[in-house]
Amino acid sequence: MSTANRIDGKAKAAAIAEAITEETATLLAEHGVKPGLAVVIIGEDPASQVYVRNKKRTAESCGFHSVQHTLAADTAEADVLALIEQLNVDPSIHGILVQLPLPGHLDEQAITQAIVPSKDVDGFHFVNIGKLNAGHIADAFVPCTPAGCMLMIEDELGKDLSGKTAVIIGRSNIVGKPMFSLLLQANATVTVTHSRTRDLPDVVASADIVVAAVGRPDMVKADWLKPGAVVIDVGINRVEKTIDGETKMGLTGDVDYDDAMTVASAVTPVPGGVGPMTITMLMANTLRSARLALGLEG
Ligand code: GUN
Repeated sequence: MSTANRIDGKAKAAAIAEAITEETATLLAEHGVKPGLAVVIIGEDPASQVYVRNKKRTAESCGFHSVQHTLAADTAEADVLALIEQLNVDPSIHGILVQLPLPGHLDEQAITQAIVPSKDVDGFHFVNIGKLNAGHIADAFVPCTPAGCMLMIEDELGKDLSGKTAVIIGRSNIVGKPMFSLLLQANATVTVTHSRTRDLPDVVASADIVVAAVGRPDMVKADWLKPGAVVIDVGINRVEKTIDGETKMGLTGDVDYDDAMTVASAVTPVPGGVGPMTITMLMANTLRSARLALGLEG
């Protein structure tokens, strides 16, 4: 029995990408500029390779100038910083993204903070984090995954979340913390839970909105949820799945999707929910950066 709405992130992302493609064509026609996205990947993490390939493909299909820098796993930090500096001053590049996680010898903080804030389309620079937390979203870059989650929540509940309670599971810098700021700014009453939280199911039971971003396959069950909750599943877990007696590797989220669909009002699937929205938000941030560089509205 499934009663909830399956939130189709793939379709929504495609519709937004279409609008971005049109705006990109207009920008080129009127200003002779293509949004430029540089993606840097260091090492051979297989999941990262898939994500970077998808980002490049989407950037090209939107009509962007898209470049990829693939560096060996043992690249020295000074060489990574030199590449970032070169991209920082390259006028054809409006967005720079260094794919995480990085090989162990590289300092993630030093690398993400070396990207000039005006090209930080991941929203990881302290200037952008500070602007988001202070409510200055007008000229901040908001991290892509939380930005995509907010658009899907807005579709279900509207822009103003006054009176709604939200529970975020996971306190990462990429998802949990920026999600807190965005939900708070939309007037939700927000709780951030994490590995040290006690009685997590009881906390989740109060939530009108649940955002799960912990990396634990199928952790959130129907009996954790308030009836009618909107459930956003950020997890991407590689698991063995048995379909028709055949065992294959497949993807699953942090939410037991079929179970949650019996109680929630809306749930994002994995794959096909948050993932495609994240990539499209990266394109939106890059287009915005190109517009801002031209002195246009973002
Ligand atoms: N690795 C997983 N998610 C992300 C993301 O949003 N940005 C970057 N740069 N790396 C990631």
